[in-house]
Amino acid sequence: MNLETQYLGLKLASPLMAGASPLADTLDSVRRLEDAGASAIVMRSLFEEQIESELADVVASVESHENAFQEAVTFMPRAADFAFGPDEYLDHLRRIKDAVKLPVIGSLNGVSAAGWLRYAKLLEQAGADALELNVYYLATDPAEESAAVERRTVDVVRAVKAAVKIPVAVKLSPFFSALPHFARELERAGANALILFNRFYQPDIDAVKLEAAPTLHLSDPSELLLRLRWLAIVKPGVSIPLAVSGGVHSGLDAVKSVMAGASVVQVVSALLMNGPEYLRRLRVELEQWMLENEYTSLAQMLGNMSLAKCPDPSAFSRANYMRILQSWRAA
Ligand SMILES: Cc1cc2nc3c(=O)[nH]c(=O)nc-3n(C[C@H](O)[C@H](O)[C@H](O)COP(=O)(O)O)c2cc1C
Repeated sequence: MNLETQYLGLKLASPLMAGASPLADTLDSVRRLEDAGASAIVMRSLFEEQIESELADVVASVESHENAFQEAVTFMPRAADFAFGPDEYLDHLRRIKDAVKLPVIGSLNGVSAAGWLRYAKLLEQAGADALELNVYYLATDPAEESAAVERRTVDVVRAVKAAVKIPVAVKLSPFFSALPHFARELERAGANALILFNRFYQPDIDAVKLEAAPTLHLSDPSELLLRLRWLAIVKPGVSIPLAVSGGVHSGLDAVKSVMAGASVVQVVSALLMNGPEYLRRLRVELEQWMLENEYTSLAQMLGNMSLAKCPDPSAFSRANYMRILQSWRAA
């Protein structure tokens, strides 16, 4: 079975990789991922706030940034709360590169095209094979228009692309009103791949204490459906590869993601729940499914359910919404 795929200038033996998370925090875990057949790993993110706080106290730094971080001030971790400080992150990257052969992708997480992006170059120098940019931005200012929100990400991408030679992927949130157009803008700005999607961790409300309580739930497969739809819609409009992130828990989830248009499949929650070895099972399930359904290569499946190729493109659009509402019957 030929599972080969192309992503970020890398020829990967399989689409199954470990997404940005604590899975790359220890060499033991990284080696186990490699043994289980991961084709690449993404390190957890290094945050703009961490890097900026090297120069100034975290809160002072937060206050100096427009209003972008206002809502996060209460939850802002102190330097000691981060798994790795910026320099430790670079050291850890070097250690991973020495320990395993698989490609290592560094991750930067921030919202402004500013000085913190010097770490892109440092990650490249430390041996990162590629970078992921997670522009986890929540638009909370009524005066800020959506075009400015999109521009913010495009500016970050341009700044990073100007600083490094290694390929750069952009991890997107699902909350863009014209995602296919924005995806194309990111490609024009130099993005080498797009990852659909980031998960926004939703704070709950403690109604008695009048507090917003942070929550982190691992995903379940129902989250994949949002990704499948947007992969299928975005795929025909760009020529850079797409990655899926969110809700992949089985080999069949991986099959569907590839059919919708994902060249690679990032897995986190399933591996945190079941251990890095679970990746081997995903690969077996993927191969098994392909064998039973007479596919001999991943390339045969890639994008065959995208908007450009699927037999009924209306399934992903408004027509399907109307149809599905009419199909519901009370039990
Ligand atoms: C504990 C944990 C830590 C994470 N850390 C990061 C991170 O540092 N940077 C990032 O871009 N995504 C991070 N993610 C998000 C994952 O990379 C992934 O996008 C998300 O979990 C959805 O994939 P899944 O359904 O396979 O878990 C984290 C997720 C979890 C559960």
